[in-house]
Amino acid sequence: MQITSLEQYHNEYQKSLENPEAFWGDIAKQFTWKQKWTKTLEWNFEEPKVKWFIDGKFNITENAIDRHLPAKANKTAFIWEPNSVDAEHRIITYQNLHDEVCKLANTLKSLGIKKGDRVCIYMPMIPEAVFAMLACARIGAVHSVVFAGFSASALSGRIQDSDCKIVLTTDGAYRGVKDIPIKAVVDEALEVCLSVKNVLVYKHTNTPITLQDGRDLIWQDVVSKAANTCEPELMDSEDVLFILYTSGSTGKPKGVVHTCGGYMVYTCYTFQNVFQMDSSVSSLPEGEMPKAERELFWCTADVGWITGHSYIAYGPLLAGASAVLFEGVPTFPDAGRFWRVIDKYKVTHFYTAPTAIRALEAAGLDFVKPYKLDSLKVLGSVGEPINEEAWHWYNKNIGKEKCPIVDTWWQTETGGILISALAGVTPTKPSFATLPMPGIQPLLVDEKGNEILGNNVEGNLCIKFPWPSMIRTTYGDHDRCKKEYFSTYPGLYFTGDGCRRDENGFYRITGRVDDVMNISGHRIGTAEVESAINAHADVVESAVVGYPHDIKGQGIYAYVIVPSTTKDHETLKKEIIAEVNKIIGPIAKPDKIQIVSGLPKTRSGKIMRRILRKVAEGDVSNLGDTSTLLDPTVVDEIVKGKL
Ligand code: WTA
Repeated sequence: MQITSLEQYHNEYQKSLENPEAFWGDIAKQFTWKQKWTKTLEWNFEEPKVKWFIDGKFNITENAIDRHLPAKANKTAFIWEPNSVDAEHRIITYQNLHDEVCKLANTLKSLGIKKGDRVCIYMPMIPEAVFAMLACARIGAVHSVVFAGFSASALSGRIQDSDCKIVLTTDGAYRGVKDIPIKAVVDEALEVCLSVKNVLVYKHTNTPITLQDGRDLIWQDVVSKAANTCEPELMDSEDVLFILYTSGSTGKPKGVVHTCGGYMVYTCYTFQNVFQMDSSVSSLPEGEMPKAERELFWCTADVGWITGHSYIAYGPLLAGASAVLFEGVPTFPDAGRFWRVIDKYKVTHFYTAPTAIRALEAAGLDFVKPYKLDSLKVLGSVGEPINEEAWHWYNKNIGKEKCPIVDTWWQTETGGILISALAGVTPTKPSFATLPMPGIQPLLVDEKGNEILGNNVEGNLCIKFPWPSMIRTTYGDHDRCKKEYFSTYPGLYFTGDGCRRDENGFYRITGRVDDVMNISGHRIGTAEVESAINAHADVVESAVVGYPHDIKGQGIYAYVIVPSTTKDHETLKKEIIAEVNKIIGPIAKPDKIQIVSGLPKTRSGKIMRRILRKVAEGDVSNLGDTSTLLDPTVVDEIVKGKL
């Protein structure tokens, strides 16, 4: 499955174009199937309908765990690095993983969870979060992981949208110096969630909690009594594996649905090819610290995001690799934490986000110098465009100019990496994601949807042919899936990203072209933030745009109309931030709030965000045509009051 030369990449790419079904069929054969698929692909992008490996029967956990046991039972699946440098790390072998996943799967079954039921996972980065995802997959339940930094209100919205039957959580979560009582957040969320029958609480921080009789159970009490074998549920390729909520350009976050077969094949294939790990080398005896000669992957994402799903939980396990699971934050106890962990465990493959790179660059080289970083072989980047400066800093100071950097472009909806270099195999270029993976057919279109041919061009990025791990639907609302992704340019999947193709055919993603912001690599819709701001009683109306931010990539700039009688704007701004924290969570907190008396609107009432974006960027010299505005003087006021 692993491509090892540039020539082979071109050959494989060609094969995938000429006969995609034979190409993916060949790759899928390497997994354990209880029943082979009868047809490889059925699709149309009109409904849309996409089915891969039709009638194939299997279980993804058998492929991610059991398949490895004969040769790798004692191999490390995860090394868990806790938030505190003084706390003990944990090593989870493939055998441990099997046993823990089976015990939890049996527990879920005993609580009445069946195939197809939705399970909400609201947990910090501890091994149990991964056990939880796999335990669901083991019994065919659908997991919906919600990032544990989201507020009670955001959590309840997600639980309600997919009618989850149970919530798996912890008493508290450590994040740097903070100790966050997350069970209390769950309690608050559940006040309005009628579908939830049980809450399983893993005791992690010993934060005091209240248990609701008949609903709440302590994880350790029940799971320890469960059997450590559990027959995997037989799943169809197109049965749902998980739902993951993500922000769109309009409305509430939507539940992106991924199915079992295509997701398994694609995440494993891309993990192996992009990162080029030799996952056969390592075999650590249980309980022993890792040795230098083996390879170790570390993706610093949280399991609450797609990167954590595909390249912490599923991809590395399907490939039988060893990986670090990190509970903490990059700046605790200081900005050298990442580098310290790399040296401690001799991480070979390191995958992080540009926002973290920029923050650590800003902290200064004194935090890098104490560490050798000589185990590193490959570096990765994900989540947002990586600016050239950050790329060079990463390359020079972390990779010591000897590690290829894979800039991996993809989305929650794509399930896995679509455009990226293959480490050490295909060329890299600073700030370019470079070439599509085999099987991926990108194209650039203009505003009208005409394909832009040739090189040295720029346009909106679409994909014209299905790949195995693509979004199947948005949970409970197929029409929304169609509208968001398949209607802007009929017959194409539209990514929402702008993109340049250089003279060599390399792709550079330039950022979102819709109303989705990318704040520290997190997707947040402007509409979501506006509706949270508008919930404040004193707010008449608001408009939110992204603006360039040195560390976060983009920051949130909010223009807010309040009644002229409102006197204390500073207190109001604080209250607005608190409101956003409460409704979404701290990640959506506005960086700048400008109080205005009006917003630039067209005569039909549409807010001209183009103008607001330019003002927020500080580019006020050429605001373009403002003559169609209902009240052009609003613009002057906004420019004068710019923060
Ligand atoms: C952006 C994260 C440039 C892009 C995996 C995309 C990137 C959105 C890159 C998806 C990259 C992700 N270069 N931009 N390497 N990776 N993006 O769903 O705008 O959280 O549409 O998935 O992040 O964010 P999501």
